[in-house]
Order: sequence, then structure tokens, then C-alpha cells
Amino acid sequence: MKSAPVALSIAGSDTCGGAGIQADIKVFEEFKVYGTCVIAGLTAQNTRQVKGFLKIPKYFFSLQLETLLSDIVPSAFKTGMIGEYFMPKTLAFFIKKYRLKNFVLDPVIVSKSGACLCSEKTRRESEKYLYPLSDIITPNIPEAEIISKIKIRTEEDIIFACEKISQKGPKSVLLKGGHGKGSVLRDYYWEKGNIKVFSRKRINTKNTHGTGCSLSAAITALLASGLERKEAVKRALEYAEGAIKNSFGLGKGWGPLNHFFYR
Ligand SMILES: Nc1ncnc2c1ncn2[C@@H]1O[C@H](COP(=O)(O)OP(=O)(O)OP(=O)(O)O)[C@@H](O)[C@H]1O
Ligand SMILES: [Mg+2]
Repeated sequence: MKSAPVALSIAGSDTCGGAGIQADIKVFEEFKVYGTCVIAGLTAQNTRQVKGFLKIPKYFFSLQLETLLSDIVPSAFKTGMIGEYFMPKTLAFFIKKYRLKNFVLDPVIVSKSGACLCSEKTRRESEKYLYPLSDIITPNIPEAEIISKIKIRTEEDIIFACEKISQKGPKSVLLKGGHGKGSVLRDYYWEKGNIKVFSRKRINTKNTHGTGCSLSAAITALLASGLERKEAVKRALEYAEGAIKNSFGLGKGWGPLNHFFYR
């Protein structure tokens, strides 16, 4: 092998390996993309609960970025949980300094259980410094409601929310439907006023720990490999669906996906 595309994940660490940095790097590898990381926080968690959180100080967040990027510049990168107030502005500086391309922004504001993962102050910093630099933003329904300030009830609301979110700078929006109701699940991809709807049957499973992270990591890997955005989204959604379908129920709570079901 002469070389491989490189992707970067800037996110939190998940001890149980189903979400965050650990999931992202597993997914990158599944797409034959070399994974690198900048850790934005440490969690002590299992499939049932998050027991603790350790912050990363500003100087060390910057040191990780500078040390990595001065040597290796990724072809695509994603952000997950970057919950500290200083992080969006700091990261924006490095994105510009190293002219980073193909930015997948997973806003990570509300978890599947409804927990708030980011303060309003930090979210606003992200909106100010990072949204305008992003190529795709991937909110779930509650996150899209917070960002767009629209209560989502109908398909028209979803389209309107995508438009409002795109006005904040992202080139495209993938509004994820995991939190929707009913047996059919819909993800909406918005780009330049056009909507593409991806529908599939809801899988009846508890093993959805890290679906959002794994999906955005797959999009990042596919962008790093040179795919167009829409095609990357389509293939990443297929991957996420397969990984949920083939999950094996690790742990006693919300189990992780099967990231290596392709093999
Ligand atoms: N039960 C399910 N069956 C099939 N697909 C699902 C299911 N749950 C989520 N998905 C898919 O997984 C992807 C992630 O969507 P979701 O809305 O769950 O994101 P999220 O809330 O950000 O996830 P996370 O809580 O991991 O951050 C979407 O493509 C969604 O359609
Ligand atoms: Mg999420």
C-alpha cells in the first residue's frame, strides 16, 4: 500500500468504545481511511450511564491540534462533543491556519436520552466560529429544533429548519430522523435548496449507542476518500443501518453498533 487517506476526529473519549473518538477511528478503518484524533474531553461511561467527565484544558487542546497538524493534514475531519467554551474559536483558528477541508460538524447538543451535552454559550460559539466553515452539519431532531428555533412536527417544518440552519453557514444539512416517531425512519439531506429523503424501516433494538458519531465518522471517511457529499451521505447511511442491524448487544444497557459488520 503506497498511502491511505487520512481523517481526523475531534471529539470526546468513550470508555466503552461505542461512541466518540473510539467509534470514529473504528469507522475510519472500516473505510480504509487512517484515523487520527484530538481528544476534547474524557468520559467514564459504559452502555448504561456516564459516570464522570474530565475536561481538557485549552493549552492541551491547542497543543494536540498544533502537534498533529504541523505534521499530518487530514483530507477530511469531523467534530463531535467539543463542549468547552474556548474550543470552537480555537479550532476555527487551526482550520484556517492549516486550510483544513471537508468538515463534518456533528453538533452533539442533545443525546438520545435527552441529556444536554453542550451549554448554550458554547453552542453559540460553535455557531459563530464553526458553522460557517463546515461542509455538512448533522443535527438530530431536537438539535435541529434548538439551532433553527423551529418546532418540528411536519415535513415542511423539517425543510424550513434545514434552510434556517444552512443560513448559519454550513454548505449542507443532514437532519437525522432517529428521534422521529413511527416505524419508518427518515433522514433529510439538504443542499442548495434541494432535499433528498432517505427512508428506511426503524430497527427495533436497544443497540443504538453511538449511531450519530458512527454516521458522521462514515461521512468523514468517505469524503476523505474523495466522494461527493451526497454520495458520501447515502453510503454512510447504508453503513450505519447495517451496523445497527448487525449489533450484538454488548453490555447491559444501550449496546454499541457492530462497526465491523462489513468483514
Ligand atoms: N432504530 C433505528 N433503526 C434504524 N436506523 C436508526 C435507528 N436509530 C437511529 N437510526 C439512524 O441512525 C442515524 C443517527 O440518527 P440519530 O437521530 O439517532 O442521531 P443522534 O441522536 O445524533 O445519535 P446519538 O445519540 O448517537 O448522538 C440516522 O441515520 C438514523 O436514521
Ligand atoms: Mg448525536
